[in-house]
Amino acid sequence: MATVVGFISEKGGVGKTTACYHIAVGLKWFHDQRVLVVDTDYQRGGITCRFIPELLEDFRSGQVTGTTVFDKFQQLYSSSTFSPVVDVRTTEEGISLLPADPRLAQVTVEKMPASNNIRENNRQLLRHLSLLRDVLEPLSSDYDYILIDSHPEISDLLRSVVYACDYCVSPVKLDLQSTIGVPSAQQAINEVNEDMEMIIRAVGPVPGYTRTRFAGAIAMMVREWGGFLISSMRSQYRRLEASGGIFEHYVTEGDGLRQAAAQRNSVYNIDGPNADRQKSQFQAITKEFMIRCPAS
Ligand SMILES: Nc1ncnc2c1ncn2[C@@H]1O[C@H](COP(=O)(O)OP(=O)(O)O)[C@@H](O)[C@H]1O
Ligand SMILES: [Mg+2]
Repeated sequence: MATVVGFISEKGGVGKTTACYHIAVGLKWFHDQRVLVVDTDYQRGGITCRFIPELLEDFRSGQVTGTTVFDKFQQLYSSSTFSPVVDVRTTEEGISLLPADPRLAQVTVEKMPASNNIRENNRQLLRHLSLLRDVLEPLSSDYDYILIDSHPEISDLLRSVVYACDYCVSPVKLDLQSTIGVPSAQQAINEVNEDMEMIIRAVGPVPGYTRTRFAGAIAMMVREWGGFLISSMRSQYRRLEASGGIFEHYVTEGDGLRQAAAQRNSVYNIDGPNADRQKSQFQAITKEFMIRCPAS
């Protein structure tokens, strides 16, 4: 069974997509892991377009081809028979992808058929929360890792992402503003875990359910001076270290990743001293990722 890991933060521009993409490619290329990436960012579809640039037009026009995760939510809302089958694409990097769908913006638990029976209402909440997990379940044995990129917002969709995950990580820029994204990610995880305790009390045990764990923040776009984090970032790093954990390895701010993004490529394929540095930083992060979020 695959280990499922979400990349979450309510802050945009902190490096979620960059981290998810490079860890996915790192797991595949340097550790021969079988990887599925799920793009739930309905606004940017950044990782979808990075892997398969041709899908950018589809994404922009809202004309997504094939069966997506959104179609599965739609099955729930219309009370039609649920089948977990979705269209999985294969990327040039050798990774599988469930592409983003702009219609995922419409996901809300309020569309679930309501009843005045508390137990039935809890069952409906559980169906919504567990939808993504239910979609991934039949795919799980084909992969070592399933990585989920997300939209920066704590929504019903994100709750369903958190539920589907064994672990979540939270990419962060070590500045005052975006560091706030980490405790709010931890809070989102705690809330899903606590809601599940209540739901289980109401409807009974849920087979295969396990709590989602926070596996740490990942510092992206870090600045160093003389080989050490600059002091303002060092204090943010220490704070996160004390309050739930942060990866020991981090990525410095620099041109290699910017060039890679502009070319829709990975930094592993970019030449130059800065790219080489970021490449080895991501390789170290990928190794640490496999320890913090072990394959089962
Ligand atoms: N270490 C880095 N150095 C330079 N640019 C970076 C670095 N990490 C990310 N970026 C750039 O920052 C921007 C935001 O990153 P992105 O991964 O899209 O964030 P998010 O998914 O959280 O919105 C992108 O343009 C990305 O290429
Ligand atoms: Mg993103």
